[in-house]
Amino acid sequence: MFQMKTTTNRLILIIVGAVLVSCSAGKDDPGKEYAPNMYHSVAYEPLKQIKDKDAGNWVSSLDDGLGEYYSSNPNNPNEMNMRVPPANTVRRSKNGDLPYRIPKDSLAYAAANVKSPIGNTQEIVDAGKLLYTRFCTHCHGDTGQGDGAVGQAFGGVPVYNSAALKDVSEGHIYHVITVGKGRMGAHASQLSPEERWKIVRYVQTLQKQ
Ligand code: HEC
Repeated sequence: MFQMKTTTNRLILIIVGAVLVSCSAGKDDPGKEYAPNMYHSVAYEPLKQIKDKDAGNWVSSLDDGLGEYYSSNPNNPNEMNMRVPPANTVRRSKNGDLPYRIPKDSLAYAAANVKSPIGNTQEIVDAGKLLYTRFCTHCHGDTGQGDGAVGQAFGGVPVYNSAALKDVSEGHIYHVITVGKGRMGAHASQLSPEERWKIVRYVQTLQKQ
């Protein structure tokens, strides 16, 4: 009985000791890491840069004589992959579009000032019609009478060739598609600016019918 107690006590002492010792390493020492490649990317990362060429436990298999954690790109300014955008510039999307920054409540401003960057050929109208049937018909109806299957249940879908809407400008229509209006949601996340402009061209034909 006595023997057993001592063994238990010793065991507890060893465990407590091990825990205390494992906590006592210097504060910058991460201790042992399991699968360090998970924390220290072999590839360059955009924002991380460890310039100490010897950092890390082993020298990488690339045989470049650099420590495993070294992650700077000497070919780039600041040795970082991330670049600071040039001063006084605005980010454009991949196909060169500027971000649409006109607030939702500025419909009148958009109606007067936003102009279509695309032409008005039959081809563009046809492309717009196809997109319209996919994104608008279920509410607005094939001919823009507000009688789509969803529109009828949804209610309050206006008629494009009504007195109120038949003369609204291309910028007006584009603004409504982009940011939404009233109960109609924004479509900017589903349609690129070019696709929205194509739809505008088709809606214009429905206004005039
Ligand atoms: C979920 C149904 C729904 C969908 C989908 C929808 N709309 Fe609408 N739309 C509405 C409703 C409802 C209104 C009335 C909004 C209001 O004034 O409250 C409206 C209004 C409009 C107006 C008139 C805005 C004004 O000034 O009164 C236009 C133009 C328009 N939509 C175009 C489109 C186009 C183009 C698409 C497809 C890209 C589309 N809508 C998709 C429901 C929808």
